[in-house]
Amino acid sequence: MSLLTVLPHPQLCPEGARFDVKPGTSICDALLGQHIEIEHACEKVAACSTCHVYVRAGMSSLNEANDEEEDQLDDAWGVQPSSRLACCARIGDADVTIELPLHTRNLARE
Ligand code: FES
Repeated sequence: MSLLTVLPHPQLCPEGARFDVKPGTSICDALLGQHIEIEHACEKVAACSTCHVYVRAGMSSLNEANDEEEDQLDDAWGVQPSSRLACCARIGDADVTIELPLHTRNLARE
């Protein structure tokens, strides 16, 4: 098991969280499994950017981003070099720390 640490976010996770995740699990599924309701407008098929997260530690634990993910990330709010789509990023054998952005760009709602 790897440890996923979620830094505090005012709405989604005010206290922050830390929990074990089975390797191979996407960050999105791991969060939803803990009732941290990250947006996932396209139902986790890399077709939106609402599941955008910042990886603050443990980037090397994650699978590489593919072209589809990179393309969607271009549309994300506040994208940074540490940005990943939570539905695409799968946790490996090392611990990971993420931060949830303060905003998302939900094109389906705009
Ligand atoms: S849920 Fe749409 S890209 Fe992840």
